[in-house]
Amino acid sequence: MTSETVIIGGGVIGLAIAIELKLRGTRVTVLCRDFQAAATHAAAGMLAPDAENIPNEAMRSLCWRSRALYADWTRKLEELTGLNTGYRPCGILAPVFEEAEGQEGRGAGGEKLIFSSPSSPAYWLNREAIHQYQPGLGAEVIGGWWYPEDAQVDNKALAHVLWTAAESVGVELKDGITVEAFLQQQGKVVGVQTNAGMISAAHYVLASGAWSNELLPLPVRPRKGQMLSVRIPEFAPELPLKRVLFGQDIYIVPRRDRLVIGATSEDVGFIPDNTPEGIQKLLQAAIRLYPQLKHYPIQEFWWGFRPATPDELPILGTSYCQNLTLATGHYRNGILLAPVTAALIADLILEQKSDPLLADFHYSRFQSKPSTSTPMLTHSANFSNGHRSAISPQHSPVETRLIASLPIEDSPLIIAGKTFKSRLMTGTGKYRSIEEMQQSIAASDCQIVTVAVRRVQTKAPGHEGLAEALDWTKIWMLPNTAGCQTAEEAIRVARLGREMAKLLGQEDNNFVKLEVIPDLKYLLPDPIGTLQAAEQLVKEGFAVLPYINADPMLAKRLEEVGCATVMPLASPIGSGQGLKTTANIQIIIENAGVPVVVDAGIGSPSEAAQAMELGADALLINSAIALSPNPGAMARAMNLATVAGRLAYLAGRMPIKDYASPSSPLTGTITS
Ligand code: FAD
Ligand code: GLY
Repeated sequence: MTSETVIIGGGVIGLAIAIELKLRGTRVTVLCRDFQAAATHAAAGMLAPDAENIPNEAMRSLCWRSRALYADWTRKLEELTGLNTGYRPCGILAPVFEEAEGQEGRGAGGEKLIFSSPSSPAYWLNREAIHQYQPGLGAEVIGGWWYPEDAQVDNKALAHVLWTAAESVGVELKDGITVEAFLQQQGKVVGVQTNAGMISAAHYVLASGAWSNELLPLPVRPRKGQMLSVRIPEFAPELPLKRVLFGQDIYIVPRRDRLVIGATSEDVGFIPDNTPEGIQKLLQAAIRLYPQLKHYPIQEFWWGFRPATPDELPILGTSYCQNLTLATGHYRNGILLAPVTAALIADLILEQKSDPLLADFHYSRFQSKPSTSTPMLTHSANFSNGHRSAISPQHSPVETRLIASLPIEDSPLIIAGKTFKSRLMTGTGKYRSIEEMQQSIAASDCQIVTVAVRRVQTKAPGHEGLAEALDWTKIWMLPNTAGCQTAEEAIRVARLGREMAKLLGQEDNNFVKLEVIPDLKYLLPDPIGTLQAAEQLVKEGFAVLPYINADPMLAKRLEEVGCATVMPLASPIGSGQGLKTTANIQIIIENAGVPVVVDAGIGSPSEAAQAMELGADALLINSAIALSPNPGAMARAMNLATVAGRLAYLAGRMPIKDYASPSSPLTGTITS
């Protein structure tokens, strides 16, 4: 029996949604790469909207709503399984060490002025009160806030209960299954490709936590958190801590037999492991807050990856595919937000009921809005001093008109069935500013711009505002797999690139510039990896434009497996050495049945013209433009050179002779 809904990710969010959908009568499958790797296990289990001091109003409401659901939600799970989740409405105490820390934003009487509600009060305790209320605090504690409504759950126990509950209600759970790509047709997901083959359903939910942007170009990044626990020893008074302590960059969560101490917050990607520095910081801060734990035996260290978004809010709700729902990016509060996420997402999928709260968490808040002014087409560079001057909007390229007026026929450049007037492609890398990039692309009159998917994904410098910077209704995006060292990596990034183009409104864009470059010194492409990746991507319906060494045999093989072009390098990427592979490029051109795009190494317009004179169908030039002291002017020059080279190729060159031949004919001269 096929499932109606497939959920990708079996952490707290995926499982909570699965159970909710199943209890409402849907057949559900959860696909999970590695249940144990979920941040769900690594968390502290605090249900702490008040202690976390969440500044965003919508987020606060969402968190409060979820905290209010927790008692019933965990009771239901416990009834289903007969297991304990460790839910404890114990309150959270937030001691402070300095006056300023505590009094900020508070009323004179100690009431919290901001971020509180009648159902979520906060009380200020002075030095005497706090030490009386919680014996054993560090002597430097001068007071603190008491949040009686905050709570905790044993997140490891909860993870086990959720998995068991999902099993018991009949959710199909598949651990060890990695979803590799979404397959889409006309705005619908038609299946997910996994390491165990294709899996299809009527509806899909993305709940893959910190790994979400491996599948979709969503701005979700891992934020590592290190943790440790100490065992409560025999000699300690019975349950020395009765409530969670939440300090500055430190918290201590009391469990039945141990204290959980967390957590670092590190922007280091997916680098695993605990570090001495991380653990030292935690221990130092924990001992300052609650000195007696320095004598407790250390029990365990661990770490996890919070799914963080740029605004620290989750991504919830519909996506650009009608049957794909997003539930990710829960950052520091995924354990807390599980019940409300499950309820809202189930309402959305099953009843098409979109709670007003969801509006603030829609993915589109990160999406590019096609810019109303289109600097690319309404401006060109003024070469005098970087100033811009407006020229006629939507101008047809002067050079195109020029060729059209000549007694010479040219056919347009056609790649994978798509027609382009310009034969110059450019890129977005290495510019000193976004504005320079915009001006240069406009001045180049190019219609295809290549974009490094991984750099956009990681928001590398210069790639942060890329979606907004260019008018993607006019420029055809050529996602490239730069930075990929293996065929597998390149395939994964190509799939992501396709999603990226779709997000920018290019629904039918299946182009990928394939780069497989294991060699980091010379940046030379791996021919075998390139061929392997090309074969796979062609099978998946991509129009593959492979970047290769100028190897005629390889070019032929790539054409045979169905590549849309071949892109031989003129000389190493970014070297500006010009045409060093002329003889081989010539052979490639002679034998190719697909367009030949000379890529990489062209440093000057004369070299661009030369490549076109050889008969190349197009050029891709980035560094020579971006690294020029005046990129706009150089972009224009490259455009003119491309056109000139093409025209010269079409016109045909004069034969080279061994001896001089006078320019003026001698016939008819008067001789004495
Ligand atoms: P995860 O729990 O990470 O689960 C994602 C799952 O998806 C994983 O099992 C992964 O293997 C799977 N997956 C990923 N990619 C794929 C794929 N392509 N195919 C198939 N499966 C895939 N929150 C709180 O509310 N309170 C806290 O006190 C708290 N403390 C925290 C402390 C630390 C140190 C950390 C790291 C997090 C903490 N959090 C806390 C945050 C919370 O843990 C997360 O927000 C929450 O776990 C996110 O849940 P999730 O299901 O979205 O992701
Ligand atoms: N919510 C606690 C943490 O993410 O560390």
